[in-house]
Amino acid sequence: MGKKIIDKWLDLYSNRVHLMRTSATRDLMSTAERADVISFAGGMPAPESLDKEAFREAVARVLEKRAEKAFQYGPTEGFYETRELACQLMKRAGLKAHPNEVIVTAGAQQALDLIAKIFLDEGSEIIVEAPSYVGALNAFRVFQPRVISIEIEASGLKIDEFVRILEEKSIPPKFVYLIPNFQNPAGTTTSLEKRKSIAELSKEYKFVIIEDNPYGELSFYGKQIEPVSLFTDNAIYLGSLSKIISPGLRIGWIYASPPILQKINLAKQGADLCSSSLSQLVAIEYLSIIDFDEHIRKIRKIYSEKCKAMIKALEEFFPEEASWTQPEGGFFIWATIDAEIDTDDMLSLALEKKVAYVPGSSFYYENGGSKSMRLSFSNPSPEEIYEGIEKLAAVIKEQIALSKSIFGFYDKKGDR
Ligand SMILES: Cc1ncc(COP(=O)(O)O)c(C=O)c1O
Repeated sequence: MGKKIIDKWLDLYSNRVHLMRTSATRDLMSTAERADVISFAGGMPAPESLDKEAFREAVARVLEKRAEKAFQYGPTEGFYETRELACQLMKRAGLKAHPNEVIVTAGAQQALDLIAKIFLDEGSEIIVEAPSYVGALNAFRVFQPRVISIEIEASGLKIDEFVRILEEKSIPPKFVYLIPNFQNPAGTTTSLEKRKSIAELSKEYKFVIIEDNPYGELSFYGKQIEPVSLFTDNAIYLGSLSKIISPGLRIGWIYASPPILQKINLAKQGADLCSSSLSQLVAIEYLSIIDFDEHIRKIRKIYSEKCKAMIKALEEFFPEEASWTQPEGGFFIWATIDAEIDTDDMLSLALEKKVAYVPGSSFYYENGGSKSMRLSFSNPSPEEIYEGIEKLAAVIKEQIALSKSIFGFYDKKGDR
């Protein structure tokens, strides 16, 4: 047993500290990382997607040819060549950006934190999808915004609801945070029609759109729908190498208009001065070594096969009370159980059976998601997926049977 740690500095912390949440995903990492647990919890890339030989070669080249630059401070906005690289990747998504319109960040996560810092005061209104990426919700939370959550459906945000909220407000929300492609956690994709509508609404009501797109390249069918940022300059676009190359590099970027970038630059100076020079140069070398098109084809196939394996196992093992989303790319399936169960409570039982998921409530700013769970298929092998879903299904069925016996008992009692 670990020793209980008494925090004698409790009176000294800022109020902000008490608003900080650790995400269930992060907490689970240590349990989920145990070799005997099949984890559908973390959004980690497939180990087989990393080309270790190419990384070895990239690091060797940097050490041999560019060590002086690699081990120095770099510019806050990132090296020009990293920003050029970001522009090349955005071009594949249909965006024509100039390197001067880009700032390199320590992953898209830092971008979210910096954006929150420059836009949010206590009580600032923002709109998020429900459910949404827990790392963004937590980054926003410490600035005490008023968060309006709008449910999503298979084609993305419920637009009627969005319009109704915009019409009600005398002051529009500061921003709406969207993950249009293969959403984390729901696996859904925003339709082209909705992307255009949201862009139009941003012009009519004057709010900013945060378009977070780390999964766009990971379409199982090879098609990327045009980003929202193509239809309006009110958008701030976030990209990342984490899901397509490696999260260990911690390289992401922000593409936005110059005044916004200036503010982001100031905020980043206070956060870390600059992103790692070494990482940036290794990423550039790595991308010059691999055949990027071939790499993307390979990883799309990996994730598409894993997704298929998960859906097949869900169909085979999950009870009839369960339903789930049908992602067309990315890492995640969102499953919902229409019965008296609570996925937060059920997690410890699943862990006992050596299988992990993230409870749905983690992805809601306030309440929601208690009958849902995020199942990530990106990291385990297809065989592990099959085995893990079978185990998880047994836990769910047990819970449903238990709840039926309890609630059934009350029903009968009520009848008498
Ligand atoms: C939607 C979304 N945004 C941002 C991030 C953070 O990614 P990065 O590794 O680039 O910081 C993640 C990671 O899971 C994510 O799913």
